[in-house]
Amino acid sequence: MSQIRNIVILTGAGISAESGIDTFRGGGGLWEQHRVEDVATPEAFARDPNLVLRFYDMRREAIQEKLPNAAHFALAELDAKWQGNLLIVTQNVDDLHERGGARRVLHMHGEHLKAWCTSCDVRSHWRGTLLDRPPCPVCQARTLRPDVVWFGEMPYRMGEIYGALREADLFVSIGTSGAVYPAAGFVQNARELGVQTLELNLERSQGSALFHETRLGPATEVVPAWVAEMIQ
Ligand code: OAD
Repeated sequence: MSQIRNIVILTGAGISAESGIDTFRGGGGLWEQHRVEDVATPEAFARDPNLVLRFYDMRREAIQEKLPNAAHFALAELDAKWQGNLLIVTQNVDDLHERGGARRVLHMHGEHLKAWCTSCDVRSHWRGTLLDRPPCPVCQARTLRPDVVWFGEMPYRMGEIYGALREADLFVSIGTSGAVYPAAGFVQNARELGVQTLELNLERSQGSALFHETRLGPATEVVPAWVAEMIQ
């Protein structure tokens, strides 16, 4: 690994699973309790805002009780020690990477702990409810929505992500099923750019065949083991 200088890491729901946050597509996963089209689209929000706000209020409250696990801590250690470029691109809307201590984190699907005012376009830190239509702390309009990317909306900061991939020597995908684009396409982008690719996941995913190497196991085991190799 000595020739590796710049790293892009993509994380998905699997890295937070052992912290007690349901994955999206696993048994007992989120979408089995709530149909995705009932909660995670702009159309659903227009049709039934109370349902959507209630759902995200519940999730926002729940994640605040969860704790980062050994995989989050290991990535934070890598972030702190790695001298080259490093970017943790997460599809997760929880804040467990940050609470684990990671600094170089990009939330491409938004964040539970932020509210987006669609009147003044400002995003504010948010821990409480949105269901009772609180005023925006900046413009006072009662037009706050969860700052999460819904199906059919554009993920955040794609230019930065593709820029980091172009500079990368290694792309690592952790705990993601490879079912949702554009994140699912990063491994293909990386391969086309000649970047080494590694997958760490509980089981083989839809994209496994595209990676140079796949290591299977729970994130709390395989991620610390990989980080130990990188910073030895
Ligand atoms: P998924 O639920 O689709 O996939 C979770 C992945 O984590 C699966 O491949 C599991 O095998 C793996 N996994 C489960 N437990 C694990 C563990 N303990 N250790 C390691 N891996 C484990 O979640 P995502 O791939 O993150 O988008 O889903 C991608 C996007 O789809 C989400 O960000 C969300 C959803 O729709 C939006 O909300 C826009």
